[in-house]
Amino acid sequence: MNIKSMKLYSHIDRVYNEVAELGKTGDDRLTAAELSEFDQMHYHGTDAMDNAIHIIGIDKSTRVLEIGSGFGGPARHIAHNTGARITALELQSDQNKMASELTERCGLSTNLTHVCGDILTYDWQQQQFDAIVSWLAIFHIPERKRLLALSGDLLPSGGVFYTEDLFSRQLFSNEERAELARGLYANHLPDLETYQSEFEHAGFALERVDDMSDDWTDFTTERLSDYRVGRARHVRVHGEPTYFAMEEFYELVNRYFCSGKLGGIRLLARKP
Ligand SMILES: C[S@@+](CC[C@H](N)C(=O)[O-])C[C@H]1O[C@@H](n2cnc3c(N)ncnc32)[C@H](O)[C@@H]1O
Repeated sequence: MNIKSMKLYSHIDRVYNEVAELGKTGDDRLTAAELSEFDQMHYHGTDAMDNAIHIIGIDKSTRVLEIGSGFGGPARHIAHNTGARITALELQSDQNKMASELTERCGLSTNLTHVCGDILTYDWQQQQFDAIVSWLAIFHIPERKRLLALSGDLLPSGGVFYTEDLFSRQLFSNEERAELARGLYANHLPDLETYQSEFEHAGFALERVDDMSDDWTDFTTERLSDYRVGRARHVRVHGEPTYFAMEEFYELVNRYFCSGKLGGIRLLARKP
């Protein structure tokens, strides 16, 4: 399965279309705040970052690694609002390139570094982080045991792993698994209990686990409905192929949340 089978990733020029809608051209300076309406690929936009900043206690002395940083929106928000030093790791080179360009134009490149690579194979050369953060990314990554072992090696004692991610609330049929593998590039969707025990077996102490399923069901319902209401505007800005790709993606995610089978989790774990 190719990650570009997920429609969220197939028309990424939509971000530059939105930048143009802001009236910005060429190398015009940008701010993290003005990009935040369209550079976040998780739920509740920058509120989710503010929550993490608060729960983890991120400040300018914190060394942060974001796994699966996408267009760089979450990392830019954290860098701009806390002054923390952030390394943003993104698998897809097109997104990583776009993220670097936007960060440069926001003047945030001194404390935010974009890196292209796969967390399962990237060579960190002994680098350490105080916090690993990740929004809607680790369900993509197979080999959870290996991911958590590698993450543990990147953290000192007392370091934290914070994620917002997906899990399975009820068993999926084979057809549903295939649809989720294609449409969401879902490679690891354990049930809630297994999700937590995988962190514990990797040596992490769970400090906080929130079931976000109902909240994200409502969020994705409103997102789909708003997107359809704004169809004329989105077609004007992005063209029909992008509109239909995004609508298909929003519909798929919402259908699985509404079915009660797809769940959302927010988790904070600490390395003892
Ligand atoms: C849904 S996006 C979320 C992006 C960003 N966290 C945000 O909320 O805006 C998940 C990202 O994780 C990236 N990703 C998936 N597997 C990865 C891996 N093994 N290593 C690094 N990044 C990965 C994907 O390419 C994708 O851009």
